[in-house]
Amino acid sequence: MTERRHISVLAVEAVEALAPAGGGRFIDATYGAGGYAAALLAAGASFVLGIDRDPDAIREAAPAVAASGGRLKVAQGRFSDMAALAAANDGLPADGIAFDFGVSSMQIDRAERGFSFQNDGPLDMRMENAGPSAADFVNTAEMREIVLVLRRLGEEPRARRIAEAIVAARAEQPIERTARLADIVLGAIGRRPDAKTHPATRTFQAIRMHVNDELGEIVRGLAAAELALRPGGRLAVVSFHSLEDRIVKRFLNRRAGREANASRHDPAALFDDRTPPSFRLLNRRPTAPSDAEVAANPRARSAKLRAAERTDAAAFDPADDFGSIAA
Ligand SMILES: C[S@@+](CC[C@H](N)C(=O)[O-])C[C@H]1O[C@@H](n2cnc3c(N)ncnc32)[C@H](O)[C@@H]1O
Repeated sequence: MTERRHISVLAVEAVEALAPAGGGRFIDATYGAGGYAAALLAAGASFVLGIDRDPDAIREAAPAVAASGGRLKVAQGRFSDMAALAAANDGLPADGIAFDFGVSSMQIDRAERGFSFQNDGPLDMRMENAGPSAADFVNTAEMREIVLVLRRLGEEPRARRIAEAIVAARAEQPIERTARLADIVLGAIGRRPDAKTHPATRTFQAIRMHVNDELGEIVRGLAAAELALRPGGRLAVVSFHSLEDRIVKRFLNRRAGREANASRHDPAALFDDRTPPSFRLLNRRPTAPSDAEVAANPRARSAKLRAAERTDAAAFDPADDFGSIAA
């Protein structure tokens, strides 16, 4: 398959929410192909720090960095480590921070990265090429854990049947290739004649999100952004998945005083609404892409943008998120 250039989703709306016209320092926390960073610079940002956990994205940013005259820097790492990455790379205090979750088209299209059931490759799926891979997970996890991951992160109704097929197949031979996993899923649940997507879509999404701890990263990344933004600084977050959007919505509602903050340190402060809001919502309802954008880029279909402005109140203690906003 030829590689597609990643097409940015909701970039115009995200940049508009960040309001870079008067200059300022911005963090593009999910640099990818650099679409958001380029749009921020074109709209007047004085400086953008691009962060990505994928070493390929950082390597491929070199020409844009060289052409930017010092206005663009990039750093490899996770956005949950934004504090250290931004402090070391002139990103603080930030006037605006953008997140655009999920995977890039380059990651999906490169068979050797192992994200795709359409292009056979090693069953990898690690965004930063380190830590346990998707093959490690499917070949060693207990069946119960596989069921849980497929249910929770893939919202896969036939999780048990798929997990049973995975466990039976790996007993014959370890599952090392994406095409083999796709065949195992197809064999387990078949293909509905009216289905618009491949039967392995949910399984692959769930395993990818698990391998990269994507939801945990979002919880920690939003808290890191709260600390990095200056008062009046803006946050723009684009999500593609209902589980992602739910975390963003809960985080912002709580920080904006629209949902009680429950403290586990002080049970008396449970549902204490006196905690001064650390954010002001810029849109109550998430912004969706236009029909024209969805027609031009079907990947935009499920995208949602939430935006908020940092107040001058102290950042909340993430430990007070009572369990987790991911719960
Ligand atoms: C949808 S793409 C971003 C595309 C980008 N906005 C553009 O217009 O080109 C998401 C990117 O975020 C990166 N990413 C995902 N989770 C991350 C994390 N926790 N920390 C840093 N980068 C992450 C991925 O490696 C991927 O390159």
